[in-house]
Amino acid sequence: MKAVIPAAGLGTRFLPATKAQPKEMLPVFNKPTIQYVVEEAVSSGIDDILIITGKGKRSIEDHFDRSFELEYFLQNSGKTNYLNEIESISEMADIYYVRQKKQKGLGDAILCAKKHIDGESFAVLLGDTIAQSNVPCTKQLMDVHEKYGSTVIAIEEVPDERIERYGIIKGKKIDDSLYKIEDLIEKPKLEDAPSNLGIIGRYILAPEIFDYITEIDPGVGGEIQLTDALRLLDEIYGCIFNGKLHDIGNTVDWLKSSIEIAMEHDEVKDELREYLLKILK
Ligand code: UTP
Repeated sequence: MKAVIPAAGLGTRFLPATKAQPKEMLPVFNKPTIQYVVEEAVSSGIDDILIITGKGKRSIEDHFDRSFELEYFLQNSGKTNYLNEIESISEMADIYYVRQKKQKGLGDAILCAKKHIDGESFAVLLGDTIAQSNVPCTKQLMDVHEKYGSTVIAIEEVPDERIERYGIIKGKKIDDSLYKIEDLIEKPKLEDAPSNLGIIGRYILAPEIFDYITEIDPGVGGEIQLTDALRLLDEIYGCIFNGKLHDIGNTVDWLKSSIEIAMEHDEVKDELREYLLKILK
């Protein structure tokens, strides 16, 4: 299976940081967000990844490319631990790029992948969302896809005050972690939301989605919404994500994610805990 990582958005909620750099390249502890996303695809068994980029996103390509000068320097200065890490980034997978010419929304970004995908089901991982779990989120969806053969999307319970930021599903529970989806609505008002189960940015999509994306009109925010195209598919399953999600699309959530993920690193966690306790006194 191939994966598509949309990373062409303008990142307006993160301005001015994203004026000249992609939000997908903002570091969370010591890695850019999109590296966590690529690593998730790779650890799900995917080695063909298409990243949807756009204007001002060159640093994403540079990040996953070889850097001979840097490798030479690290080799000669004996910094072999860094050298191994830097080399492994460019060897993780076959990464391809296509540019979304105009930022018309997530649905339109995914449509840019049509030629590369070539008629098969494919995974989509949003480039600004980190999903941490024992079994990678995309692999969890692939397992459901293998069983049912249809589109599967990752969902999780969303607190009331965040409902308006998500695509929300209406569905019938099949088992503890699986729903058969009957309808989806993008960014509903709390009172219009059919449930509290939100779409979190990981999907296995049937290739028919491309046809439906071309059929839909712009939706919420004047954007071509993937959720609106999903509504037209015959069969969709929603799989409750078993893990921890970090949406780094806005400053506060990015900061929280950075702290949480840094606290998983033994080399900094004590110092960071002490510092946080000190400034909170
Ligand atoms: P978001 O809606 O969170 O990204 O899309 P955005 O448009 O950059 O955010 P704001 O609202 O302006 O702050 C989720 C993912 O889809 C990609 C984004 O790069 C992000 O990874 N995306 C979004 C595209 O690739 N193209 C688009 O036209 C829109």
